[in-house]
Amino acid sequence: MTSEPLVLGIETSCDETGIGIVRGTELLADVVASSVEEHARFGGVVPEVASRAHLEAMLPTMDRALRTAGVALSDVDAIAVTAGPGLAGALLVGLAAAKGYAFAASKPLYAVNHLAAHVAVDTLEHGPLPEPAIALLVSGGHSSLLLVEDLARGVNPLGATIDDAAGEAYDKVARLLGMPFPGGPPIDRAARGGDGAAIAFPRGLTGPRELAAHRFDFSFSGLKTAVARWVEARERAGEPVPVADVAASFQEAVCDVLVTKALDACRTHGIQTLVIGGGVAANSRLRALAEERAARHGIDVRVPRPKLCTDNGAMVAALGAHLVAAGRPPSGLDAPADSALPVTTVLL
Ligand code: KG4
Ligand code: ZN
Repeated sequence: MTSEPLVLGIETSCDETGIGIVRGTELLADVVASSVEEHARFGGVVPEVASRAHLEAMLPTMDRALRTAGVALSDVDAIAVTAGPGLAGALLVGLAAAKGYAFAASKPLYAVNHLAAHVAVDTLEHGPLPEPAIALLVSGGHSSLLLVEDLARGVNPLGATIDDAAGEAYDKVARLLGMPFPGGPPIDRAARGGDGAAIAFPRGLTGPRELAAHRFDFSFSGLKTAVARWVEARERAGEPVPVADVAASFQEAVCDVLVTKALDACRTHGIQTLVIGGGVAANSRLRALAEERAARHGIDVRVPRPKLCTDNGAMVAALGAHLVAAGRPPSGLDAPADSALPVTTVLL
């Protein structure tokens, strides 16, 4: 029997330089160097700063990943890299590095989709993904519901956010509550001491008329504005802002909508498996609520451990290994970076 493919994955689409090494669905190394602290004072990722940081982190991160996995570059069967979507300059650094390594070591290159990698990473935690599955993808830049019939060939988008992504809403609400960037983790923590039912914040695109046109779409911009208005009203009245209750009630609105729509997609398509990926999947309330409600409907929820939800190289390696195992042909060394790569394109 031939062994599972040994694949090295490189991720540089945003502010994390991630290099992961997997053998099939087994995780051997997952090294992440983040430039998040360099962006924190700007309240968002500064593309030029991120590109420079990727360049500086690439070689040491690669060395650490190879050492952790106990392999040499010459041992790997393929190199996978995020080709998009993401910040153009940041993507270019990872893609150029991957091409250099692939060319120097004569390895096939797989230029892959970051969003599909957020889905594939779950295989490192829970083994091969039962297909078809519904994927709920919630990150700083994207919020989508996908029908995954064959991840190696592509995914079908069922719906997506029509304005802010879920992670973006966390980041913006955190900012108005005076919390640091990225806002997901501090809101998650603050919400633990608050009451999610304290304030009835709106659930976007869940009314009967909206559902007719946007059943599997999301909208978080109205929620963000509602939180801002609520906080402003308190401040104007000279009353203290109950930060924990605001955080918990905001979080409840986000998670309620995400889980309701994801389970609706499972039921509508007769699907038993829901996989959740992307940075917001690290959220403790989202994980708990999804499990609690899915269990009632006999649906199996798969969410990887938090460290694999936020951006990393292991997710790219996991997708690469899946593509190699499925016999997909590699990309050419001329594969471009595509900052707006559609989720339907898994491999360039
Ligand atoms: O997937 P990711 O690491 O990068 C993108 O591809 O965008 O997602 C980053 C997003 C940020 O908006 C961050 O605030 C959010 O994920 N996030 C969280 C949590 N951890 C990270 N949101 C809610 N709760 C968390 N625990
Ligand atoms: Zn991501």
